Amino acid sequence: MILSTELSIIVPTYNESGNVQALLELIRGSLPDCEWEVVFVDDDSPDGTSRIVREIAARDRRVRCIQRLGRRGLSSACVEGMLSTVSPYLCVMDADLQHDTALLPDMLARLKAGDLDLVIGSRYVDAGSTGDLGRARAWMSRLATRLSRLLTGLDVRDPMSGFFMMRRPFFENVMHRISGRGFKILLDALMSAEPPAVYVELPYRMRTRSRGESKLSARVLWDFLIMLIDKLAGRMVPARFISFATVGFSGIFVQIFALWILHRVMSAAFVPADAVATLVAMTTNFSLNNYFTYADRRLSGKAFLRGLLSFYAACAFGAIINVSLAATIVAWGYPWWLAGSLGAVAGAVWNYAITAVFTWPKGA
Ligand code: GDD
Ligand code: MN
Repeated sequence: MILSTELSIIVPTYNESGNVQALLELIRGSLPDCEWEVVFVDDDSPDGTSRIVREIAARDRRVRCIQRLGRRGLSSACVEGMLSTVSPYLCVMDADLQHDTALLPDMLARLKAGDLDLVIGSRYVDAGSTGDLGRARAWMSRLATRLSRLLTGLDVRDPMSGFFMMRRPFFENVMHRISGRGFKILLDALMSAEPPAVYVELPYRMRTRSRGESKLSARVLWDFLIMLIDKLAGRMVPARFISFATVGFSGIFVQIFALWILHRVMSAAFVPADAVATLVAMTTNFSLNNYFTYADRRLSGKAFLRGLLSFYAACAFGAIINVSLAATIVAWGYPWWLAGSLGAVAGAVWNYAITAVFTWPKGA
């Protein structure tokens, strides 16, 4: 009889070459009585993580590597890793040794024993702790936790956990609804679960990362907010558009501020000052979109300049559409605020659609 794998451990990696070997040692030691496999999903890390995983995989068939090209993203890496498996139990954990492999047998036993969908490794129950996570990070993490509990009405202590194990049917139930953007795959799965997930949280002490560095950045927090909005907006509007529109909104403030400096502080004439302020706002909008909205297709070097020019061009047309639509609506006798808003929405949709195709084309 061929024993198939019971537990698949999915480990997303980006520049974790120094941690792979140590993590595997720990897993081997923690799971002596179980048929397990580890699937590393690596986004083509420049430090050669994929190559190192494959070298180990050549000697241990329980280890596999999925190397993704031209893409980034923790959640989508986890989903794709899980899709590559057949085991009845699926676990997600970080490569950086911050998650305690000693918890694995207990997590598995809980899932096998009862009617649970999910077991969460939690930093905030009983003996669990954030270890010596920097104070700022710990605070940010608690804040995000509170915020998401408030917004989602979920009663999970650690919805931000990146360490959890679930039953395959639960994964299959949520996989089409997981937005795949960003970091918070657990929260995403919990919010997508229909009916609600049956889970338990087990405490563990989060360790300090010893090698490599954290990828949590401003971009990740942004993705997190957008994911929440995306979930709450019920998928009516694409997450990318929400991000684009939010950046666009910030542009209004940049423009007013630049105008104030040029016109009021530096006494430049209104029209040239406003023109320069517009250019400044378009430039910050482009940069913010390039960093946040299109983090996965980010332009740099020459492509950045080319992108900036095409962004200016798209926005110029967008402004014409905006103003002429508003003028038409006002001419039809509708109120000015309705005309102005509809014009702005039309301009934003135009800018979004055109730059999605020309400025940040897919697979360029
Ligand atoms: N494939 C892939 N692609 N893997 C990634 C990417 C990516 O774009 N970004 C990060 N990873 C991998 C890292 O290599 C690591 O194994 C794991 O995902 C977590 O990334 P870290 O950069 O170590 O994240 P962290 O320690 O700041 O955040 C952890 O704690 C958070 C709670 O505070 C993660 O577990 C988060 O999921 C968790 O929310
Ligand atoms: Mn980490």
